[in-house]
Amino acid sequence: MVGMQQIVAGNWKMNLTLSQGQIFVDNLVAGLDGVELKRQLLLAPNFTLLAALARSCAASGIGLVGQNCAFQESGAFTGETSVAMLKDVGAGYVLVGHSERRQLFSESDKLLQRKVQAVVGGGLVPILCVGETLEQRQSGAAYTLVVEQLKSALSDFPDAPLLVAYEPVWAIGTGRTATPEDARLMHQHIRKFLVAQFTWGAGVPILYGGSAKPENAASLLSQPEVNGLLVGGAALDPESFLQIALA
Ligand code: PGA
Repeated sequence: MVGMQQIVAGNWKMNLTLSQGQIFVDNLVAGLDGVELKRQLLLAPNFTLLAALARSCAASGIGLVGQNCAFQESGAFTGETSVAMLKDVGAGYVLVGHSERRQLFSESDKLLQRKVQAVVGGGLVPILCVGETLEQRQSGAAYTLVVEQLKSALSDFPDAPLLVAYEPVWAIGTGRTATPEDARLMHQHIRKFLVAQFTWGAGVPILYGGSAKPENAASLLSQPEVNGLLVGGAALDPESFLQIALA
């Protein structure tokens, strides 16, 4: 969509302690000084860092993202974190359905639909992650699979802010990035689904994720329907994150 502000989001996964995270944000903010940034920056630190980073991120216009959440509102769910708790410590967004959650923690489409609903119900913005495995891509099932993931997670989705992240599983943490062409084709496919599904579907930012780095950021970000990047490994260093943001 013309005029949509691009987004660069850093997903720290289970990396960086509190002091490391604070140093990262200090360095990032210092690097942003005097720079005209056209993109919105988001950071997804571990839950244990959110409260401490909230003030400096807010002051610099950096949005905070929870990496996961429970779908329940409260109660006897040891080890879980509710949307209200994330909101309380300054998160504005929540990642839902990251492939590591789907694969390593067996999160099902049905569970993810409940999480998406919980995020929206709690007043935060879901960043719904979808993507196929290498096997699924090679068998020609990638497009169907991604649409199925979207359909399922977004069933009964209200008219509310939403971000989608296309992250091919074979590109995550592997150094093997999707080509700009791969990304464009899938993003156009996702856009088609969103526009058919929702009257406001044209305005949903679609991020690409999977070995995005300073060297490939500009070519990915120049593709139609690539409205931003979700960055893992290259977001652990403020300098490379900044390079991506400015690419
Ligand atoms: P990566 O991770 O950039 O290290 O491939 C992306 C992600 O999992 O969000």
